[in-house]
Amino acid sequence: MDTIISLCKRRGFIFPGSEIYGGLAGTWDFGPLGVELAHNIKNLWWDHFVKKHPENYGLASSILMPEAVWSASGHLEGFSDPMVECKKCKKRFRADQLSNPTAKRQSDCSLCPECNGELGEVRQFNLMFKTHAGATAASENAVYLRPEIAQGMFVHFKNVLDTMRPTLPFGIAQIGKAFRNEIAPRDFLFRVREFDLMEFEYFVRESEWEEHFEKWRKEMWAWIEKIGITKDLVHELELPKEDRAHYSKRTIDFEFDFPFGRNELYGLAYRGDHDLTQHAKHSGVDLRYTDPVSGEKFLPHVVEPTFGLGRTVLAVLLSAYCEDELGGEKRVLLKLDPKIAPVKVAVFPLVSNKENIVAKAREVFEMLVSQVETRWDDIGNIGKRYRRQDEIGTPWCTTIDYQTLEDETVTVRDRDSGKQERILVTDLLPYIQAKLV
Ligand code: GAP
Repeated sequence: MDTIISLCKRRGFIFPGSEIYGGLAGTWDFGPLGVELAHNIKNLWWDHFVKKHPENYGLASSILMPEAVWSASGHLEGFSDPMVECKKCKKRFRADQLSNPTAKRQSDCSLCPECNGELGEVRQFNLMFKTHAGATAASENAVYLRPEIAQGMFVHFKNVLDTMRPTLPFGIAQIGKAFRNEIAPRDFLFRVREFDLMEFEYFVRESEWEEHFEKWRKEMWAWIEKIGITKDLVHELELPKEDRAHYSKRTIDFEFDFPFGRNELYGLAYRGDHDLTQHAKHSGVDLRYTDPVSGEKFLPHVVEPTFGLGRTVLAVLLSAYCEDELGGEKRVLLKLDPKIAPVKVAVFPLVSNKENIVAKAREVFEMLVSQVETRWDDIGNIGKRYRRQDEIGTPWCTTIDYQTLEDETVTVRDRDSGKQERILVTDLLPYIQAKLV
């Protein structure tokens, strides 16, 4: 983990949040390369689960939602973790993560892992961030930063029904921020207090939930493969009732072998009709779907595949990270899938003091940069430039040299094999684009 964290910092992928003020626990910020990687993952996810499934409709709902939403959804009551505080050092811990993972009561917990002090009562700690909208801090204007993006999809269920006229099965998808006041943020991007989710609610007839659950389970594996997460490091875990969220009737976690242990990467849940039932009851709005053939009215059931973006980035980086030897030299490389690599191609003039070579290289750069993510590098020898690009996962480097001036060919060097081939400048863009599909 330390190697990945330091590479991310050094090369501009991920920085600690508010770093110059000492950092803010549970926040990590994407730097110039990280934001490109994250964008590429989000776009690919949208393409895989929304554009390629026209029955899935997109949504972007607000982060702030009133108390009524969270009262209806059950989060006010049930979205909490068991917390204990050390009486001596005052540090707080998640009771279920202390030495006895099934701890629910004080007597089940061991001593403080930091100072061996006595631990206090186990209390349920609600994970939602609460604030107030407007100038007065009264209970009627209490609002919450959403702890899950799903409620936006349920609250707009009727709007999507009325505007898009979908027939079952159909989904509502969104990508956006969620906030959880985690008791103990840890392990880099793994457990933070502010993170992006990519998720959809798939509305089905109750009798058909199992077949859709299986369908999306397979699609989740296809996604894992597409994004370049090492499949052998991913394992399904069927969650027993006591470990499932309050709304779930069945959950499969997709766990990943992180360096700090096997832990949840993604989830697939069957939420039944819990959310629509609750929102219909609390809002007084009829949320039933009308069967277009029989006219029957009913509340659909929901299958929900959910994906944390930060955990995806972490699993992708851990899967891509390699150290090998090329030409007798050690190197570090990120074997990122070209589709998500922040930079697709780097352009090098062989030397930076020959005007005609630099001018030709600029021409090649200009040709590429409006089409694919392209970087210019003319600093240091070519070997060093290759290493810099390997470390950030750039799949191709192209060098403009003396021969280019004679025959309009450039070298293209492949990141993983280190092999080079000469191709015509006019073939360069089609060569790269063909590998990005
Ligand atoms: N709507 C369902 C839902 O929110 P969840 O299992 O609570 O389900 C979904 O969260 C995903 O969000 C997880 O599978 C994980 O990838 C990610 N996630 C959850 N808590 C997180 C945290 N504190 N930091 C980073 N990612 C988190």
